[in-house]
Amino acid sequence: MSALVFVTGGSSGIGQALLETIPWAGARAVHFARRPAPAAAANHAVDLADPASWPRVAGVLERELAGFTGERAVFVHAAGVLTPIGFAGEVDPAAYRAHVLLNSAAPQALGDAFLRALSGTRAPATLLFLGSGAAHSVYEGWSGYCAGKAAVDHWTRTVGAEQKRRGDRCRVLCVAPGVVATAMQDEIRTTSERDFPDVERFRALHREGALRAPRDVARELWALTLRDLPNGAVLDLRDA
Ligand SMILES: NC(=O)c1ccc[n+]([C@@H]2O[C@H](COP(=O)([O-])OP(=O)(O)OC[C@H]3O[C@@H](n4cnc5c(N)ncnc54)[C@H](OP(=O)(O)O)[C@@H]3O)[C@@H](O)[C@H]2O)c1
Repeated sequence: MSALVFVTGGSSGIGQALLETIPWAGARAVHFARRPAPAAAANHAVDLADPASWPRVAGVLERELAGFTGERAVFVHAAGVLTPIGFAGEVDPAAYRAHVLLNSAAPQALGDAFLRALSGTRAPATLLFLGSGAAHSVYEGWSGYCAGKAAVDHWTRTVGAEQKRRGDRCRVLCVAPGVVATAMQDEIRTTSERDFPDVERFRALHREGALRAPRDVARELWALTLRDLPNGAVLDLRDA
């Protein structure tokens, strides 16, 4: 096996396209989300907004990586949500808590689990997160999303520095993909202006055909992982 590729959120959108465009022939793809991904060799049904799922994912990573002798190990964390869209203090509290756990906490806990599981192999490794311009722009109605993406950006910078000190054992990257035609974008356009005042901008982008195809974005993301980028790099695909 040339590569062992773990993907979260591969049942839809960018994660699905990433699974369908893995650039290494013979790679084994292992997937985590609530729904399965047909392109994966193994599917693990997990709700990553539930912290009880994180040790289950860690166990799979340990088992898959133990004794792995292939050319590379890659973990791509694409799982994410925008909902509930609306102002803090006005949306459903259980949905808000689940959002915070999935977008802010799960990337850190799963990133830690992947790095830990790498003790089972000597293969060069990459950990890739899907970032967003929302990490440094204020979008009213997206507080959990903006804060979660900012958390992932800074986790990437910090852990990238740590990995550099460990001889670049694992390259950690966070890449914002731009505006991509996925279910997440469909959800945005159906939101009211009361809950998301910037909604018209996203409707206009859709009308103008400005959304990118998930497969094009996926191919560019894979190409980025092959470049010699500095550990902890936080990038926007549109500038890369
Ligand atoms: N589309 C864009 O324009 C855009 C822009 C910037 C950043 N991004 C980022 O790119 C990533 C992928 O987004 P997308 O646009 O491809 O969205 P999408 O089509 O809505 O897909 C989201 C994925 O996340 C998974 N997911 C959601 N909640 C989950 C949960 N509780 N447990 C496990 N998996 C869960 C979903 O799987 P299940 O429902 O099967 O669980 C699905 O596979 C996200 O991190 C997003 O923030 C997207």
